[in-house]
Amino acid sequence: MSGPLLEMQGVVKEFPGVRALDGVDLDVVAGEVHCLLGQNGAGKSTLIKVLAGAHQPDAGRVVWQGEPITLSAPTAATHLGIATIYQELDLVDGLSVAENIYLGHEQARLGFTQRGQMRTAARELLGRLGHADIPVTSEVGSLSAAGKQVVSMARALSHDARLIVMDEPSAVLAHNEVANLFRVIRDLTAEGVAVVYISHRMEEIREIGDRVTVLKEGRTVAAGLSARTTPTAELVALMTGRDVEYAFPPRPARADPDERPVLLEVDGIGRPDEFHDVSFTVRAGEIVGLAGLVGSGRSEILETIYGARRPVSGHIRLAGSALRPGSVSAAVRAGIGLAPEERKSQALFLWDSIARNVSMSSLRRFARAGFVDARAELTAATDAVRRLDLRPTDVTRAVRTLSGGNQQKAVLARWLLTDCRLLLLDEPTRGVDVGARAELYALIRELADSGVAVLLVSSEVPEVLGMADRVLVIREGRAVREADARDIDESQVLDLVMEGSSV
Ligand SMILES: Nc1ncnc2c1ncn2[C@@H]1O[C@H](COP(=O)(O)OP(=O)(O)OP(=O)(O)O)[C@@H](O)[C@H]1O
Ligand SMILES: [Mg+2]
Repeated sequence: MSGPLLEMQGVVKEFPGVRALDGVDLDVVAGEVHCLLGQNGAGKSTLIKVLAGAHQPDAGRVVWQGEPITLSAPTAATHLGIATIYQELDLVDGLSVAENIYLGHEQARLGFTQRGQMRTAARELLGRLGHADIPVTSEVGSLSAAGKQVVSMARALSHDARLIVMDEPSAVLAHNEVANLFRVIRDLTAEGVAVVYISHRMEEIREIGDRVTVLKEGRTVAAGLSARTTPTAELVALMTGRDVEYAFPPRPARADPDERPVLLEVDGIGRPDEFHDVSFTVRAGEIVGLAGLVGSGRSEILETIYGARRPVSGHIRLAGSALRPGSVSAAVRAGIGLAPEERKSQALFLWDSIARNVSMSSLRRFARAGFVDARAELTAATDAVRRLDLRPTDVTRAVRTLSGGNQQKAVLARWLLTDCRLLLLDEPTRGVDVGARAELYALIRELADSGVAVLLVSSEVPEVLGMADRVLVIREGRAVREADARDIDESQVLDLVMEGSSV
């Protein structure tokens, strides 16, 4: 083996009040998939932003093919052949797919004399990614999260990169799309391209990774371990500094169905092109899981119950009373909470503090004579933050400065403070590290045990089966099966969700 393609040595990066990187080492060789593991806030995204030239390190060296280099700007990294797919995708919503893919390229050098050629090239790249279905002329803003991810990948490919860094690419992808992504990664590495791959899903590390580097609190705690043979428990212990129980919290005994009142009744609701004739119930204290592919209509069903979309047919009742269709304020007054899928755009006020983001749905609780009781607000927010192990624990910090997974926790913490009767959770553990996941599962079960009805959407079938009492399988907008979660297994669910799809 020739020398490493990339070496990062003793990299330090400080932000006001935080040492995000405190001496990180990473070496990557050509043709490998190098996984970067670490808990939320460990420094993974910061490290790859240094590598992308987006952050300047305070100390340390970056060596590229044996030569020390300075990455003073993102263009410097691009010129060397380093492409980055960020956790928060950096696409321009108002531009077309093709324009986004070739954003910042000097088109003269590429020899594009006209837009038609750029479109053809863009189409070819999308085809390589198994997504010839994405129209290159559509505005990126109209695409789903998964579609945007694919465009971002196509952009990395367009640069003929030698090293492609992927920050949690699978977080927005469905099961079949992850398989597609892995196929692309294998093609790339076979051509000698190196990939740095970040994910919180341990089974992916095993499947696609060659070597693993583990970060903890801004330091490299293990470098270059074998991705295939290092036991998961060992990797998790390195990341968290403790042994983590993987188990899902125990379910209450199979309850007598009449014991707990039906809280939510969804009766034949439909919206053209989204979902059709969907009926189910959720009892108080029960967790019902919606399993299905991304795009199967699960999120739309949740948003319709929340009043953000108006059903064209059917009815929704909460505790026996009809909910006003298409009214979020009516839903919130009735005690419904939603933790949406795209937290950045839908749920967080990035420039506000953690405390305000966490407490904003329960401000009434802290109101005193028309003013917010700031002390009570802080105390309650701090408590919720502690329960979810959100870092940093200083709740006066702006949410914008948190790591991806910790932003996630801020949205979830908000719902712990509100007194919801029905909680709608859309991909609650997306981007959350393994240690915090276990705590989150326990909290969701705790909420259910206290009488809250929970409707859970997750693309991870084991998570649905492990957490839910009852499962509803959704395929192309229709409920194709309802079962007690203990009476159905992962392969049965996967068969049901995939049937008839083009995978
Ligand atoms: N712009 C910033 N200003 C201040 N602090 C920041 C900034 N960016 C990151 N941090 C802090 O640096 C630390 C590392 O964050 P980073 O985003 O690198 O974590 P991560 O390992 O990618 O986590 P996750 O798995 O949640 O994405 C965190 O404590 C975070 O709050
Ligand atoms: Mg990150």
